[in-house]
Amino acid sequence: MPQAYSISAESIATERERVGDDLQKVDVSRIIQLDDVELREIGPGDVHLKILAVSAEHNVDHAALADTMNIAEARGGKIYPGNSAVGEVLAVGEAVARVKPGDVVVTHCNGEPDAYGYPLRIWAYDQPDSIGWYGKEAVVADWQVVPAPLDCGLDLWAIAALPLRAPTAHHLWRRAIGIYRVKVSCEQRARVDVLGFGGGVSELFLMLAAHEGHRAIFCSGSAERREQLEKLGIESVDQKQFNRFADRDDVKAFSKHVKGMTNGEGVQLVCDMMRGTVFPAGMAVLSREGVNVSAGWQLGMNCSYNSANCSVRQLTIDHTHYETLAGVSAATELYGHVFKPTVHREIYGFEDLPRAMEEMHQNVQTGIPIVRVADEMPESVRNLVP
Ligand SMILES: NC(=O)c1ccc[n+]([C@@H]2O[C@H](COP(=O)([O-])OP(=O)(O)OC[C@H]3O[C@@H](n4cnc5c(N)ncnc54)[C@H](OP(=O)(O)O)[C@@H]3O)[C@@H](O)[C@H]2O)c1
Repeated sequence: MPQAYSISAESIATERERVGDDLQKVDVSRIIQLDDVELREIGPGDVHLKILAVSAEHNVDHAALADTMNIAEARGGKIYPGNSAVGEVLAVGEAVARVKPGDVVVTHCNGEPDAYGYPLRIWAYDQPDSIGWYGKEAVVADWQVVPAPLDCGLDLWAIAALPLRAPTAHHLWRRAIGIYRVKVSCEQRARVDVLGFGGGVSELFLMLAAHEGHRAIFCSGSAERREQLEKLGIESVDQKQFNRFADRDDVKAFSKHVKGMTNGEGVQLVCDMMRGTVFPAGMAVLSREGVNVSAGWQLGMNCSYNSANCSVRQLTIDHTHYETLAGVSAATELYGHVFKPTVHREIYGFEDLPRAMEEMHQNVQTGIPIVRVADEMPESVRNLVP
């Protein structure tokens, strides 16, 4: 049986007991544990993968903390996490024509599309029986993989940073600009100001905005990340200068700062991803007709806003969740051409995956965290390993 990391209701309970239920003190690396996984037999439509590299994702943090819900408990006591990976195809079922053994693919986490392709559930999270990819091998259906664009100009670690975050950013962007265009046409205003708060998804959202000719502003607490984005022509604001919006005066000062950058107008589009204390800050800096989008609720699930104020200012608050299957393919086409992710300076070994997750939890990484899973890389990607 291949090795794979798991999160169990038991390990969550043990850690919760150790820290007296104080979520601030939880050590995520004690909850994610190395395990074995029994893979299903390869069916006619299945693909057997050797996992090469994965990225650490925040939904794993949510699963380990059991803060939004105790997903391990809800899934019968244990989940195998990991919903972003690059893998080599080892074998395929007889009905699979899209990929063949030796191909390198990226996975996506749309666990079950609805009638229009939007995810009802997420793979390795709330999709029943789904086994994630923080393991040495996996078996998935062929619709869950997309050929990796190995000639896109990115190295293997940067490619591994994108399977979950790029489709999410792609969806957020098409929703944000699409909603804005319902209100203000291109001929009325071609170039808009776009602001994103921290994190990997937001930086990719801003790369899309900049690529289409808009002004992009990254508001993050990490100097390394801001510097990296400035090299791509994306302006930045230090979020810590505004105490991460701890109180109303910080929000006011931030709003004044952003209005100062935008001729007193504010920005047309905001990518939030955090909610919580970030939400009022994002709403305060919107211009008239502005749009606030988010697929995340890292700091809080509930938002409150003044409906009359939003009506009068013609504001729209939108909520998204990952991408459609077609959108995932479209996002993959943009690897390297638009998406140039910031990768954390350490590439973690497979045995260090729990530490990678804890360091993500502590917010001390300088970019998207990548874990090398395979010791031996296939010939086709060896020149992509720095
Ligand atoms: N529903 C979906 O489809 C979907 C998909 C992807 C992600 N998500 C969710 O969206 C959220 C962000 O995801 P991600 O992948 O972009 O995360 P990430 O790359 O791990 O980034 C998280 C970052 O948030 C930044 N941040 C900004 N403002 C912050 C604040 N006030 N307090 C603390 N941190 C702040 C931190 O950067 P600085 O220190 O530089 O500010 C941190 O590095 C997560 O909760 C994730 O689960 C949802």
